Amino acid sequence: MSTDSSPAPWPAGAQAVTLRPMTADDLPLLHAWLAREHVRAWWGDERLDTLDSVAAKYLPRILAEDHVTPWIAMLGARPIGYCQSYVVAGDDFWPDETDPGARGCDQFIGEGELLGRGLGTELVCRLVDTILRDPSVTTIQADPSPDNARAIRCYEKAGFRPLRRVTTPDGPALLMIRRRVSLPDA
Ligand SMILES: CC(C)(COP(=O)(O)OP(=O)(O)OC[C@H]1O[C@@H](n2cnc3c(N)ncnc32)[C@H](O)[C@@H]1OP(=O)(O)O)[C@@H](O)C(=O)NCCC(=O)NCCS
Repeated sequence: MSTDSSPAPWPAGAQAVTLRPMTADDLPLLHAWLAREHVRAWWGDERLDTLDSVAAKYLPRILAEDHVTPWIAMLGARPIGYCQSYVVAGDDFWPDETDPGARGCDQFIGEGELLGRGLGTELVCRLVDTILRDPSVTTIQADPSPDNARAIRCYEKAGFRPLRRVTTPDGPALLMIRRRVSLPDA
């Protein structure tokens, strides 16, 4: 199966989703989002019931003490979701990865009424662009549940291609890859 992908396929009529670094002030909002059913259904085994437990997990990421980098997705001035990238090599989920240029990504739209409007695809495209600004990055991977058809479709629209089914500590996943596209020499 080919894993090549075309340049970032920005969706028609993009609605200007932007990313900003997450700060400690965003922790209560993240806590509220993580409690929502549409997020809990698919966001790993995050059962972070208290603000303290959310802070314990996410503050090291905010402070760059972790290999995961967190962002808040904005629609204009409104925070609408969370996303993160991580260095795959050394991550507990991927013990066999040795490529220092491999990155992983995860995201969700926190505001339920905004699902299914193309914003998730735009968020992923923005995240891909942001990650690829680092010239050392070779590939970006995602690992949605094989049952999460909406997320899989969203990643496909953002240029990811399915590679294979894997088993992670969160359970079965579909490993999807977005390769850096090399431009022909001028
Ligand atoms: C996954 C998520 C980020 C996608 O964002 P979104 O804004 O809802 O997605 P989009 O509107 O950009 O695209 C969704 C696509 O999935 C399709 N879709 C929706 N439900 C579907 C289903 N049950 N089966 C197949 N396709 C489905 C939509 O039709 C759309 O594709 P289309 O444009 O070709 O019609 C968002 O739904 C979300 O946050 N979900 C909860 C958390 C989550 O699953 N996070 C991902 C973890 S890997």
